Amino acid sequence: MKFASIGHLMTRDQEKKIPQSWLKDEYILSPEFDFEHTSGYLLGLRITAKEIMYRPRTEMQQIILDAAVFLQDSFKIELLQLGALTTSVTEGGRWLTMQPAFRGFVNHGDSYTAAVACNVVNKIVDKYGIKPEESSLAVVGGYGIIGEAISKKLVPLFGHSIIVGRNQKKLESLAAKIPNSSLNLTTELDIRTADVVITATNHPSALIYSDHLKKGAVVVDVAQPPNVSLELCHERPDIVRVDGGYVTIPSKFGVSIPGYPKGKLFSCIAEVIMQALERDRSHHVGSIDMQYMDCTKKWAHTYGFELRELTNFGLTI
Ligand SMILES: NC(=O)c1ccc[n+]([C@@H]2O[C@H](COP(=O)([O-])OP(=O)(O)OC[C@H]3O[C@@H](n4cnc5c(N)ncnc54)[C@H](OP(=O)(O)O)[C@@H]3O)[C@@H](O)[C@H]2O)c1
Repeated sequence: MKFASIGHLMTRDQEKKIPQSWLKDEYILSPEFDFEHTSGYLLGLRITAKEIMYRPRTEMQQIILDAAVFLQDSFKIELLQLGALTTSVTEGGRWLTMQPAFRGFVNHGDSYTAAVACNVVNKIVDKYGIKPEESSLAVVGGYGIIGEAISKKLVPLFGHSIIVGRNQKKLESLAAKIPNSSLNLTTELDIRTADVVITATNHPSALIYSDHLKKGAVVVDVAQPPNVSLELCHERPDIVRVDGGYVTIPSKFGVSIPGYPKGKLFSCIAEVIMQALERDRSHHVGSIDMQYMDCTKKWAHTYGFELRELTNFGLTI
């Protein structure tokens, strides 16, 4: 079962760092990567994060569908992962599953990403001696696909939590799924009291600034493009920014992917590779099924994908 992952440029500058041989007229296309019992491609749309979010949605959906059909017809791709903001503009991937022109299976890769982000928080708690029951958590983008799963898992562990979103009704509906928790729901980016912050929005650029963060806050930045800039890390050496979604590729595969920290890749891509290895012929789109999320952790254990060390913009902390 062959897989592919569709992503896009974060910014136009990023094209300069991509191997020249990957740059095709319409797409950025990797060579075929071999993972023993499966293989696949990474395809990048030559469109930036801002274009994905701000150009007409129907136009973006058609571009994603065309890429999916291209991968299906040219390389016999049966399983497609929607990377970065391609999930947000396809109704969490559900839209693509309803298009007859693409006959394969669709996975947003958010389930293993949410599991890894929770694991990052567990490692942070250990490393910095944080007592969750005495600490405050903020989840920015809390009712998004990743944000919701993370909130369900982590809010019950923290003494107090702040969930940030743009829509009050959606915040309330999420809160109803996490009963008996000390919660503050807000449509303002009011996270100044949080000890641990998780950012999982689809905002196409940095969103968190110095004034938002208390002294010594730890921020797990899951968002791609990142919600916390490198500049802010320099401006605020007291805060710790941690990448939310990198995992180490098992060395037995001997795969190294340009553009990623050495030996690593995004957990969403790891998820689709594992799904292909499992020959799981189903869609994993929309809201995360928490049982399936646990299943991705078991797959990771089986195949050897793991969150090894904490990193900030790819560098070990
Ligand atoms: N690191 C990795 O391996 C990895 C893997 C997969 C995805 N990601 C990234 O994770 C992020 C979330 O992905 P997703 O699939 O969960 O997206 P999603 O389902 O579209 O959720 C994103 C959420 O962000 C909210 N949001 C946007 N701007 C906001 C703001 N200014 N304040 C508060 N909330 C805001 C949106 O709210 P509304 O609904 O009200 O618009 C939406 O609920 C994306 O950046 C994606 O690229 C990373």
